[in-house]
This record gives sequence, structure tokens and C-alpha cells, in this order.
Amino acid sequence: MKQRMLVVSNRLPIVVGEQEGQWTISPGTGGLVTALAPIMSANHGTWVGWPGCDQSAPLDRLCGQFAEEQGYALAPLPLSEEEVEAYYRGFSNETLWPLFHDLLGNCHFKLEHFKVYQSVNRKFAELTASTCSIDDFVWVHDYQLILVAHYLRQLGVDQPLAFFLHIPFPSADLFRRLPWKDQLLTGLLEYDLIGFQTLRDHRNFVHSATSLADDTRVVSRHRQYTLLRQGERIIKVGHFPISIDFNQFATQAASEQVADAAWYLHENYQRRQIMLGIDRLDYTKGIPERFLAFERALEKYPQMRQKISLLQVVVPSRTLVPDYLNLKTLLEQLAGRINGRFSQHGWVPVHYYYRNLDQTQLLAHYRTAEIAAVTPLRDGMNLVAKEYCASSVENRGVLILSEFAGAAEQLAKQALLVNPYDLEKTADAMYAAFTMPVEQQQQRMARLRNDIRRHDVHRWVRSFMAAADRRSDHDIES
Ligand code: G6P
Repeated sequence: MKQRMLVVSNRLPIVVGEQEGQWTISPGTGGLVTALAPIMSANHGTWVGWPGCDQSAPLDRLCGQFAEEQGYALAPLPLSEEEVEAYYRGFSNETLWPLFHDLLGNCHFKLEHFKVYQSVNRKFAELTASTCSIDDFVWVHDYQLILVAHYLRQLGVDQPLAFFLHIPFPSADLFRRLPWKDQLLTGLLEYDLIGFQTLRDHRNFVHSATSLADDTRVVSRHRQYTLLRQGERIIKVGHFPISIDFNQFATQAASEQVADAAWYLHENYQRRQIMLGIDRLDYTKGIPERFLAFERALEKYPQMRQKISLLQVVVPSRTLVPDYLNLKTLLEQLAGRINGRFSQHGWVPVHYYYRNLDQTQLLAHYRTAEIAAVTPLRDGMNLVAKEYCASSVENRGVLILSEFAGAAEQLAKQALLVNPYDLEKTADAMYAAFTMPVEQQQQRMARLRNDIRRHDVHRWVRSFMAAADRRSDHDIES
């Protein structure tokens, strides 16, 4: 791609640290940055976002150093504590996040939060407008920044704008509950290309747009995208399932360092299977339900006792949002209760850790676990499912996957699919995974790995960019 890329996301893709007065900056490790960094540095792009670090950090100097080392620029937008509280913790994470994950009961609807969400989106748009030139490819990411296009248009930016939603988009019936649905829908429709993770999200959005927004209708439907017309404008809506850098995971997981760490980890679970759960602390991930299903499995299938442990790693996240803190307490109580009930000499059923894992440890956990339980109540994609398969370099292991994770649209056939609310059947799936013959594991895992290898994150970027490029189909079909 020759166009310069301008990425706008809530967080900048950086890790800023300080040790004994020395500040450091390095690229983050998420999938998005892995996918975009090569393109960004090839065309000297710019990434606009909230630095999210200590206000005393010498940001200008650190960003300059980053640009020199990585080949693309950062445009940091610092936010005040009040803005973070209302825009990030409030409207983004206490309103949109639960609503878009179908968890209406966790939603808080506060006008004050929405107003600050608007003003922060405007600030993002102002910084973007001052950074961008007419033929940049402007790509805005995720639910925190839905209104950026709206303010960019107000500021006179009239080039094509692209948006990708990393989380699910709810049914029209749920979306209607949002008091500010009109502003958000109108705002979304100001982008020219809107990407979702799955066909279900894509359809949900088209249904909301055509039933709730004025003067909006479908022009034509295609396998991967739909063209909408609103007044004079044509908007392309598509689904582009995000992925991981398969080769990077597979290569690193095959390294000696990871092999050693994996061996060491399993030494503590000799003659036992490990069922692994790795999640950010989040009530959408279905962790309490997973604990309860495991408890049910131990009740129902006594032959599992002493032979399997659930190793659950919970990575701290959004700890200042009250629902997240409550979840932490609940998990501690549940793990304690199950262990109190079933532990026997030399065997603890639930090993629960609340911490970050470094990359070697993460890969070692993936590589050595016989089973991965990825059972969110709802999830945009869930990359843990894909990372587990990519790291299963011995071509073994069983993936238990929620039918409500975006990844299920792709991986359903070879995973054991469960409804995480159905404790009985999830317990049965855990038993089926525990007893699955090795040949069947290998067959399924080989297919999963092939599929993920072919649809990696680089292909995701290419297909999104290609969709943005095909502007001619508007002319043909209008
Ligand atoms: C999800 C969202 C991202 C977000 C990430 C971590 O994956 O789609 O936009 O950055 O969670 O959450 P945080 O609130 O820590 O940025």
C-alpha cells in the first residue's frame, strides 16, 4: 500500500516504563500492533491514541525515540483523570462494553458519561485532523471511538474513513435500549467502511441501521459485505475476523526456552491433565461459569478427580471499574469453595493465579495444557483460542470453545462447542476432552492449526484494506 496509514485507537501501542529515573518506551505486544507495525513503518504512518502512562513521563522525547526506532510516528492524546473516569471507565466500559456483549444488567446509563465520551471523541478527531493529509488512509478502531468520524466531518475532513469494531455488535433489540442510540448510529454511518468481526455482528448492524436510522436502506448484499445507502452516501459494511500472527506463535512456542518452561510447568502436574483458562479479568469471559461447570464435572465424573486440574490465569484489567473488582472477589471465593470441597492429599482441583504472564510463560502454558477452556459469555473474537492452537506445536490438545465467541464462526467444527450458561453440557464437554483419544485430538488440532495458519492477522489487514480499496463497486452498484 502506498497511502500513508493513520491509525486511531484508544490506547497507543506502547509500553512506557521507569526504572531508577530512566524512562523507556517499547512497542506493545497485541495482535493489532503486530499486524499494523510493518505497514506503518513501510509508509511512515502515524498512530493517534491515549498514552495511558504516568503524566510525569517525558512523552515528547519518548515518542521521538519510538519514531526513530520503529519507523512510524505517535501522536499522543493525554487525558485528564476526569476524562478517563467518564469516557473510558464510564461510558466505554460501563455502558458500551456490557451492552455490546449482551449483558444489559451490567450497563450504567449516565448522561454525564456520554457527554464526556462525545468531548473526548472530539479531541481525538481534532488531533487526527491536525495530523492527517488528504490522501492518508484513516482507520479508527473500536467502541471507545465510534464518534470520531462524526467530528472529523464537522472539522471538514472529507476523505474516506474506515472503522473496525473489535467487540460484538448487539441485536437491534438490545441496541435500542441505549438512550443515545441515534447519535451512535448516525456517527457510525459517517464512516465509509465499517468492519465487524463476524457475519452475525455484520447482520446485527445492518438490521439496526435499516430499522433505526433515517433514510437508510440496503443497496446490495454480497458474501462478505453489504452496501448501504443513506441519502446520497454509500456505506460498505463487512465482516473481517481478526486473527494472530500464526508463524510467530508457532515458532516461538517451538523454541527450546518455551519447551523447557512447558516441561517445568507440567512437572508440578505429573500424571495429571491441565485444563487451561487464560483471560483478562472480565465478566464477559464466563470464568465463574467455567469454575461451576468444572465443579459439576468433578461431581458427575469421579474418574476425573485427582487426574485433572483447572489452571486459571486471570490477567488484571480495568480494576477501577466496580464490576471488575466484584468479579475478582467472586473468583477467589469460588476457587476456595471448590478446592475446599474436592482437594485430596497431593491434588488441588483449581489453581487460580491473578497476574500477568510474560511471553515465554504464556506460550509454555499453551504448549503444555492438554485442554484449553475458552468459554466467554460473549466475545468479539477471542484470540486465546487461536493462540492456544498455534502454540500446540505437538499437534495435540483439545479446544473447548463457547459458541458465543466470534472465533466459533471459524473453529466450530474441530473444537468442542459449548453454551457456557449450560453447566451440565459444559461439564460433559470437559469430560469428553479429558477422555478424547490422541488420534482424534491430533486430527482436530491439525485442522485447527491449518485454518488459523491460512487466516492469519496479515491476511486480516489485507482483506480490510482491499475492501476499502474497492471503491469502484460503489459506482457499479449505485
Ligand atoms: C478489548 C478491546 C480493546 C481493549 C482491550 C483491553 O480487546 O476490544 O479495545 O484495548 O480489550 O482493554 P483496556 O480497557 O485495558 O484497553
